[in-house]
Amino acid sequence: DGFPATKLFNQGFSYTYDDVIFLPHYIDFPTDSVQLATKLTRNLNLSIPCVASPMDTVTEASMAVSMASLGGIGIVHSNNSAVEQASVVEFAKAHRIPFVNDCVFVSPNDHIQSVEEFCESPCVFVTETGNRSSKVLGVVNKFDWEKCGDRRNARVSDYMVESVVNVPSTYNFDDVAGYLAAKNLDYVPLVRNGEVFDIVSVGDVERVRGFPKTGALPSLGKNGEFLVGASIGTRESDKERLEHLVKAGADVIVLDSSQGNSIYQIEMIKYVKRTYPELDLIGGNVVTMAQAQNLIQAGVDALRVGMGSGSICTTQEVCAVGRGQATAVYKVASIAEQSGIPVIADGGISNSGHIVKALTLGASTVMMGSFLAGSREAPGTYEYKNGHRVKKYRGMGSLEAMTKGSDARYLGDTNKLKIAQGVVGAVADKGSVSRFIPYTMHAVKQGFQDLGASSLESAHKLLRSGVLRLEVRTGAAQTEGGIHGLVSYEKKSF
Ligand code: XMP
Repeated sequence: DGFPATKLFNQGFSYTYDDVIFLPHYIDFPTDSVQLATKLTRNLNLSIPCVASPMDTVTEASMAVSMASLGGIGIVHSNNSAVEQASVVEFAKAHRIPFVNDCVFVSPNDHIQSVEEFCESPCVFVTETGNRSSKVLGVVNKFDWEKCGDRRNARVSDYMVESVVNVPSTYNFDDVAGYLAAKNLDYVPLVRNGEVFDIVSVGDVERVRGFPKTGALPSLGKNGEFLVGASIGTRESDKERLEHLVKAGADVIVLDSSQGNSIYQIEMIKYVKRTYPELDLIGGNVVTMAQAQNLIQAGVDALRVGMGSGSICTTQEVCAVGRGQATAVYKVASIAEQSGIPVIADGGISNSGHIVKALTLGASTVMMGSFLAGSREAPGTYEYKNGHRVKKYRGMGSLEAMTKGSDARYLGDTNKLKIAQGVVGAVADKGSVSRFIPYTMHAVKQGFQDLGASSLESAHKLLRSGVLRLEVRTGAAQTEGGIHGLVSYEKKSF
């Protein structure tokens, strides 16, 4: 019944996740016993197979911290200066709490005109120069400010309060929560090297306690720091960027290129491995076995797979190159497996079923952009479009992003013409990744259970041995597999 993967993927068709469907197998274990623990690279383990993409509307410190606290990892984007990127990595790695709050700083001579200036924080910090790094003089509490509207024209130094209460940034979530309760405080600043580092409020404590409990261990490196990755390009200047990132403590580096099988990437892989033999390196992107083979030979510790499958990508249209993501993952994984190189299925994930398909077809992790964009942890602010609360999500090959420097990913020449290979858009507010990723992982476990696979390893074995069977879905079968025939419905998954 159905086809083994070897037969299905060797007929000359390029299949996307939606094109194929697995036939159910035999269940002899409960959902909760499915293990999603996996490898990001040869040497780095994760408790859940989720990676946040190095895109400037997806991964900065907040995403990196939350993904690591869930057991996954975030790769900090490089569409900024090397110093800026390294400081994001350092900031994320210094966190012991499972989220990042923005702290607001003003100078003593500033005026606070509107409550919006508090940016959802319970207070603003008054420092000598209005920068994080200068001496803290006091705080203005939002609650107090709201009560006294006449302060709008006064300088903050006239009404700020001195506050000496704070805790060190080395406190973990339980330590801070305990401190707030013991002292009956509404919030407490965390301090590092004499600077305000973050802030935790009673609301944050309640929010975090309300998140689903999964039992997945956070991704921690040596010293108990969150694992954080970072991307670089393959230009000469990226060697200096890499040095900054290594100093900042990046645990893994992604060579960010839409077509990784190039002399530039191969030389960079050799350089990185020579210079930092201990550093884990992810190469890509690749979609063919030949591309994969070249990068494996050059020494990568994992491969990133996907070309033109991302939700914001136009590479296949603009350059006529790429591959359907299901085929690409299957083909690359079948060669990478022989060398023990984990595969990251990058792009095209828009539901938990896609994750099940990517992992079963041979990937060890999925890298996601749009699935995580629009969350509380994604960079940027929410705005309203046609009555919907949205956040910007853009391709790193969009003209807008490339103007900031990301054209290196497309081997563009900064002095010449820029051709877009991506678009700028917006995605709906999804709430916190700390809420929806646990639900998504539970759905993935249910998919694995239907396939009779109790772990990624077992799914890979069942696929390679031909026990798991697939079929291609016709257009009508895909319509039937989606919601259809209703006049209206409410799509709520959890
Ligand atoms: P999703 O589907 O998760 O895809 O939104 C994210 C992945 O898409 C890739 N990416 C791009 N590909 N043009 C492209 O062809 C772009 O502008 C672009 N920006 C990101 C990247 O691999 C990312 O992880």
